[in-house]
Amino acid sequence: MEKHSNFLVKLGAKASDGVGSAQDIVAFSYACSHMGCPLVGRYRAEHKMVGPCTCHFSTFDLAKNGTLIIGQATQSLPQMILELDAGAIFATGVTGLVYGYRDNLDGGTAVAVR
Ligand code: FES
Repeated sequence: MEKHSNFLVKLGAKASDGVGSAQDIVAFSYACSHMGCPLVGRYRAEHKMVGPCTCHFSTFDLAKNGTLIIGQATQSLPQMILELDAGAIFATGVTGLVYGYRDNLDGGTAVAVR
């Protein structure tokens, strides 16, 4: 996917599908699963969550696969599938559909927003 941003965080506590020795490193899409507003700058380390989204207040639990805590979204925040190889972290896939895309495959086509 082109022009799509994700964020990587070390939560400091074990997370669902987290990687690393403490299983606390996770990555998610910056595009809110509700209507795609950016979640840049909305990470709240003390609560291990991202949000509230500036558009409609959805908030997601990063320790539990981006599950919706509160807000208008109906789906979890898409989580990147991470793998460690020789000390490097690679994103090898994504769970859930990133807002604005009809698929998550390499070269996925952006869906026009009306
Ligand atoms: S776009 Fe984030 S809550 Fe609507």
